[in-house]
Amino acid sequence: MAYSCRPEHLPVLLPEVIDLLAIRADGIYVDMTVGLGGHSAAILERLGPKGRLIGIDRDPAALGIAAERLKDERAILLKGRFGDAPEIISGLGIKEVDGALFDLGVSMLQLKEHDRGFSFMSDARLDMRMDMLEGPSAWDVINRYSEKELQRVLTDYGEEPLFRKIAKRIVIARQPSSIDTCAELADIVLRAYGGRGKTHPATRTFQAIRIEVNQELEQLKKGLAAAVGTLRTQGRICVIAYHSLEDRIVKNTFREMGRAGTISVLTKKPLAPARDEILRNPASRSAKLRGAEKI
Ligand SMILES: C[S@@+](CC[C@H](N)C(=O)[O-])C[C@H]1O[C@@H](n2cnc3c(N)ncnc32)[C@H](O)[C@@H]1O
Repeated sequence: MAYSCRPEHLPVLLPEVIDLLAIRADGIYVDMTVGLGGHSAAILERLGPKGRLIGIDRDPAALGIAAERLKDERAILLKGRFGDAPEIISGLGIKEVDGALFDLGVSMLQLKEHDRGFSFMSDARLDMRMDMLEGPSAWDVINRYSEKELQRVLTDYGEEPLFRKIAKRIVIARQPSSIDTCAELADIVLRAYGGRGKTHPATRTFQAIRIEVNQELEQLKKGLAAAVGTLRTQGRICVIAYHSLEDRIVKNTFREMGRAGTISVLTKKPLAPARDEILRNPASRSAKLRGAEKI
């Protein structure tokens, strides 16, 4: 696949992640969301000749870019979803890893490539699949889900106060002909709100549809269990979440695993970017980093 732009990507909370992972030069680290390879590159820099980095992503386009950036015999990049991690790792003949990183959400590549259909600012066809070869797209959700199913997605994954009104308007709008583009959907939400404030009112709707399309919260639950399962004793897990639904799952999973004596939580409160990082990289503003150590 050809790309019209190489989006600039600044890895979020990088010094904090590196510090929390407490990288051992000969360790094996798995980056569950290798994306454009920003965090992975920094991990590789700290590994010695015997260290290994396994980079996983469900987006083949991101993996292509990461592969160019991480040309290094210590790095292995593989396509997969969080839930596939145990088979991927054991398939490499690896029993335990020293650290695992999740930098959740979408990459700049996914947001900035208009034909991926993630942004309400674009007139691209509704898509939002992180892996464009797999599963139903945003178009299917918007045009095929019942009004009740749309309400569920908007409340569960968008915490959208106008979920009834927006679901009804979607169902009415798609009757004469399908809703095809991101701009059309954004306009339906905008009209339901009767105008826009500081943030576009479609932000929550787009988040909700994206989470549904990619089954992001189910994947996160599976991924956390899988990653902790493959950590060696004293191995570390770090997770960066960008919205409250993700962060709540991370917080509660860590708390339950802590109570069960599986991990010890290293971040009583999540770490957030400092003001200067937010100024340099506004996309980092909602990030929350939590870390834990396997007992
Ligand atoms: C925020 S980006 C990661 C950026 C990366 N840390 C970097 O520095 O370039 C998140 C990445 O995670 C991937 N991703 C999200 N959910 C996933 C899942 N369930 N399984 C595998 N990859 C996933 C996305 O495709 C995306 O490339």
